[in-house]
Amino acid sequence: MTSTAREAPVLRAGRATLPPGPAMPSVVQALRYAFDLHRFFAANRARYGASWTLRLPGFPPSVVTADRDAIRRLFTGDALLKRHANDLLQPLLGSNSLLLLEPAQHLARRRLELAPFHGERIRSYTERVRDLIEREVRTWAPGQSVETHPRAQAVTLTLILELVLGVTDPRLQRSLAEIFESMNRPRNNLGLFLPSVLAKRSGWNLLSRSFWSMIDRLHRLLLEQIAATRADPRLTSRQDVLAMLVQARDEDGVGLTDDELRDELVTLVAAGHDTTASAIGWGVDLLAHHPHVVRRLRDAAADGDRSYVGATAKEVLRLRTILPVSAARRVLEPFEIAGHMVGPEAAVVVDAESIHHDPELYPAPAAFRPERFLEGPPEDYAYLPFGGGAHRCLGSALATIELEAALEVVALRCDLEPVGPPARPVRRGVTFAPANRGRVRIAAAVA
Ligand code: HEM
Repeated sequence: MTSTAREAPVLRAGRATLPPGPAMPSVVQALRYAFDLHRFFAANRARYGASWTLRLPGFPPSVVTADRDAIRRLFTGDALLKRHANDLLQPLLGSNSLLLLEPAQHLARRRLELAPFHGERIRSYTERVRDLIEREVRTWAPGQSVETHPRAQAVTLTLILELVLGVTDPRLQRSLAEIFESMNRPRNNLGLFLPSVLAKRSGWNLLSRSFWSMIDRLHRLLLEQIAATRADPRLTSRQDVLAMLVQARDEDGVGLTDDELRDELVTLVAAGHDTTASAIGWGVDLLAHHPHVVRRLRDAAADGDRSYVGATAKEVLRLRTILPVSAARRVLEPFEIAGHMVGPEAAVVVDAESIHHDPELYPAPAAFRPERFLEGPPEDYAYLPFGGGAHRCLGSALATIELEAALEVVALRCDLEPVGPPARPVRRGVTFAPANRGRVRIAAAVA
């Protein structure tokens, strides 16, 4: 499915109008959005077309779109005229987070941060990534049932703490890991749906109190790590992202402040570790159900051919879209969508899930078929696991290296058996992970 048929844009008395959407109360829409997103979105898409309006209490109306022409216009053109719509993440990430900056500041910050996340630079981490994954997989014994998503979480967190934050002290790693792991708990995820519960510090509100004391402790530890990095005599030879960020300067020679660095580190860990771990959990679940893919991964590795593992990682992220809504923006000038003109009073959100399952773009969309990515690149704006435009995922190169390494190491080291049917998606904050926690049985270890 490509763009919707164009009609004349509707502009009534200079005011924006929005595409139609479900008439049910916004609270009911919020419950469906939180607990039944996949069916809710598919039903609305079938009823209203590629673009429809979602209404959630306490949020501006959101035009949900799978219209690739609208997405192209959203991701291109003047970046200063598109603002993020990520405000609900503010209590967790802090107002200096890359995800939350206003357009002009955001562009300047991205310029500073692109070098450490560039593919070339990130590739130097490949060996360490593979080493840690190998170590984890070697602990899996034949006959054992392994929950691969939590195992992958521990590995991706260690990798981010070491490679991105430059934390090598095991005690500090443990303290930070404890805090970030507790953020993954459902009680803390709840904050994402009830931002007002967390937005204010209040002594009587237990959820708010425990949330803010966790954030305070996290900030203290991160500021200590930033101070130690600034003072490190080996700073210029360090390979981690924080060491590069501390040294980065804009055209006027100005670097990032401690508070900016702190919010950025929280963002990088929050955006980067559970997303990648979920992808690994999904990937291993799919491998357990598709032994022919495992065999092909082994053959490709024996031939030194990297293209099949690359295609497999892409197919995992298509079939099991971790962020079904993979971008959210406020458009600061009138924006045409489905024959309507949308303005800054609404958000436009990208329905990557529908695009990834469109049979015109991906024949037999429910099938796990890595080969489809060997046949040529996807059509424009048809593959959006990492969003796009000015806010496109900064860590996509690192995530890809981690996912490819995990798929390859698991395929090379174990014969897998599924423990049940393919996993269903379960919500974890804004992402979706395998409900069975990526549980597989290790049938045999391969020499
Ligand atoms: C499979 C794993 C991952 C997935 C599926 C994923 C997906 C996404 C998506 C959909 C966005 C929003 C893009 C948009 O608004 O257009 C995003 C943003 C971001 N991601 Fe990732 N991500 C992953 C891993 C990572 C990693 C490993 C890191 C860093 C260590 C990271 C850092 C970020 C940052 C900093 C942003 C905000 C960029 C900005 O606002 O300019 N992500 N990611």
